[in-house]
Amino acid sequence: MMKTHNCGELRLEHSGQRVTLAGWVNRRRDQGGLIFIDLRDRWGITQVVVDKENAPAAHEIADQVRNEFVIQVTGVVRQRPEGTANADLPTGQIDVYADEIAILSNAKTPPFYINREETVDEALRMRYRYLDLRRPRMQRNLVLRHRAIKFIRDWLDQKGFVEIETPILFKTTPEGARDFLVPSRLNPGKFYALPQSPQQLKQLLMVAGYERYFQIARCFRDEDLRGQRQPEFTQLDMELSFVEREDVMALNEALILALIKAVASEKELLFEPLPRIRYQDAMEQYGTDRPDLRYDLRAIDVSHIAGKSGFRVFVENVEAGKPVKVIRAPGYAAELSGTQLRKVTAELEALAREAGAKGLAYMALPAEPEGEVKGPIGKFFSVEQKLELFENVGAEAGDLLLFISDEREIVYAVIDAIRPNLAERLGLLDPNKLALCWVIDFPMFYWDEENQRWDPSQHMFTMPLPEDIPLLDTDPGAARGSQYDMVCNGHEVAGGSIRIHDRALQEKIFPLIGQTMEHAKEQFGHILEAFEYGVPPHGGIAWGLDRVVALLAGEPNIREVIAFPKTQRGTDAMAQAPSAPEPQQLEELFIQVVLPEEEQA
Ligand code: AMO
Ligand code: AMP
Repeated sequence: MMKTHNCGELRLEHSGQRVTLAGWVNRRRDQGGLIFIDLRDRWGITQVVVDKENAPAAHEIADQVRNEFVIQVTGVVRQRPEGTANADLPTGQIDVYADEIAILSNAKTPPFYINREETVDEALRMRYRYLDLRRPRMQRNLVLRHRAIKFIRDWLDQKGFVEIETPILFKTTPEGARDFLVPSRLNPGKFYALPQSPQQLKQLLMVAGYERYFQIARCFRDEDLRGQRQPEFTQLDMELSFVEREDVMALNEALILALIKAVASEKELLFEPLPRIRYQDAMEQYGTDRPDLRYDLRAIDVSHIAGKSGFRVFVENVEAGKPVKVIRAPGYAAELSGTQLRKVTAELEALAREAGAKGLAYMALPAEPEGEVKGPIGKFFSVEQKLELFENVGAEAGDLLLFISDEREIVYAVIDAIRPNLAERLGLLDPNKLALCWVIDFPMFYWDEENQRWDPSQHMFTMPLPEDIPLLDTDPGAARGSQYDMVCNGHEVAGGSIRIHDRALQEKIFPLIGQTMEHAKEQFGHILEAFEYGVPPHGGIAWGLDRVVALLAGEPNIREVIAFPKTQRGTDAMAQAPSAPEPQQLEELFIQVVLPEEEQA
């Protein structure tokens, strides 16, 4: 046997047993007659002691080992001598008194420390990902990911779901990103598209009568890798027949709450059941459809007060139908000295300008009742107006009030820029808290100015809210979809909808989004045809599984929970992918590469 136990397993009760362990040298200390080796594997660390007098041959080998060598050790488990126990290690009561050591593999000095939790240069980590993954933090993350997926599979199985795999080589399934294309050797000039999601296929599985489908599904989207995005990522994808919006939401809410309790019970769940926020309300209060609800800091409309103040900008804006909104930072003004207040408000104003605003007025409320309100616009509000304003936003002594006024879209962008920044300054971003919510009642379409057409806000298969179906003919921009997004700590973690299951309604969507019927038939003919053979009402959802696991792990980026992620430039820095194919491969595919001039070196 290569090992009788793992390195996290041995306790006092094993004392006296002869064991064999194998793993990596986490650390080696030479104290002359005694060499101490911390031996590490996935399960933990065990201290090995090699005594020159007792085991001269083993000592000679121990003398040669270095960090990250792979070794095998045989010896007897014994209680550590008085005063040398290590309370930080589960195995800290014992050590293994070795008499045989074998070096299974040498190791070069790694480019960064495996045995210390410290920040390592991102490029190095990606280049040597297998060493990065050897670190305890990454091992914890990947094991957590495994546990989460196993929990989800078991839970859904219990609820009558079947996991069905769908093809990777398929046809375009648009979700708003670019497709990755794969040339077909057997069909020269033709390409598969990698699925941006299994959307069409899962709907076809509903037509096929599976009723409750799920899949841990790989999805591919050729998009810019801002934020929590990867070109290749994993969804928990599901679809159900004979359901309404409420059914899908209830089931998914139950699943995520059970999942968190099962694999991340140390997290504090702020809301249960999950609050539901309408899209329009989310935009008005948080400036985004994925609000971080770990903190409040919502924007409150004060147009009716600011519009009668003496501040010309606000008065003119309100007359022109542009809102004035206030974000209240509780107690922040009281924390800041005069100089700090000027610096902070200047920084916040710069953020607001970046988001398109022309300024960011503020009022700093005094900590004592008799103090003066500080800030450039206090003087434009009468005492009564100030009182009315403070009452409206729930202001208290020492608060900082920030004023945003512009076109509605700009106001949203500014709120969305200011809130998280303020939350960080106020120390409100606690990764141990999970604030989950649903966002519902999205508009069906956004207007695409550049292409002069409507773009589906989710995808073209989303059913309008029944009462909004007539709006498709009269005012598509006002039609809401029967959609739902699950949001956690400011990230969209899942999105889905009830689908159109009526061919005529589906055909109505295509021209709205700028698809000719001809083109739609070419792309989606199989779905339209399937809908002529008896289709159950259905709906579903997909979770961004990487995002969910990152939140459960308390990691700021989904790269930390993906074994081999891509870099910001979409490359694999370890294997050097993508790479240039052999000329012969291209020939077989009848493909010629024509590079833009600047890349022809
Ligand atoms: P959607 O496009 O909203 O819906 O995707 C579902 C969830 O997947 C996650 N996600 C991503 N995660 C990492 N990297 C990416 N590039 C990326 N893109 C999306 C998000 C998102 O909420 N077929 C529909 C679902 C449905 O209607 O059932 C779909 O794919 O967390
Ligand atoms: P001004 O009258 O230009 O000196 O501006 C007075 C204060 O109002 C400054 O703090 C500006 O940043 C702010 N301000 C100007 N325009 C706006 C606006 N549209 N919305 C919010 N604040 C503004």
